[in-house]
Amino acid sequence: MKNIVILISGRGSNMEAIVRRSVEEAWPARVAAVISNRPDAAGLAFAAAHGIATAVVDHTAFATRAAFDEKLAEAVASHAPDVVALAGFMRILTPGFVQRFEGRMVNIHPSLLPMFPGLHTHRRAIEAGCKVAGASVHFVTADLDHGPIIGQAIVPVLPEDTEQSLAAHVLAQEHVLYPRAIRWLVEGALERRDGVVRHRGGEAQLIGTLVATRAPT
Ligand code: GRF
Repeated sequence: MKNIVILISGRGSNMEAIVRRSVEEAWPARVAAVISNRPDAAGLAFAAAHGIATAVVDHTAFATRAAFDEKLAEAVASHAPDVVALAGFMRILTPGFVQRFEGRMVNIHPSLLPMFPGLHTHRRAIEAGCKVAGASVHFVTADLDHGPIIGQAIVPVLPEDTEQSLAAHVLAQEHVLYPRAIRWLVEGALERRDGVVRHRGGEAQLIGTLVATRAPT
């Protein structure tokens, strides 16, 4: 049984999706721990209610980023993770932390990388007049929101879209994409060559829809 450790900062809906899928699909892996940098992260309650170990490493209690990262790395490593999944984890990690878990640490970002790294991705996509938006799961490297792309999900940007409606539609796709990407990792189904990630069995690394109508959310 492989171990997945998920890092969150807030709501934790992607974490929830991963936990649910791992059980429903009987993965050869379990979510061993959910760790938050914020004591008030709503997702902690869901994890605890599902019998998953939880921990808080509160970044405000540390004088430096390095000191925080060291404590966080200890907490993560204590669960012997095969996969470390950042799921709405809102801290920038030091190169030392990233190096320690390189190759087994992934992130979900709500844009079609390499477009729109950083914050306010949906607003920026709308303001740029993009007709398509989405989310990306990628290996974490020392560069923020960069790193080899494992999978992407697309949705159309409709003329009536607001930042909130677009975020909601992308999030629904994230909940499909992220668990799938994590399953590939635990199955060892991915190969990474020259910065490009491929699914050995040819499963689709692109999901979503470009149909330009939607049911109301
Ligand atoms: C998601 O949109 C994710 O892509 C981004 O932060 C948000 C987290 O949402 N990194 P949740 O905490 O998983 O509900």
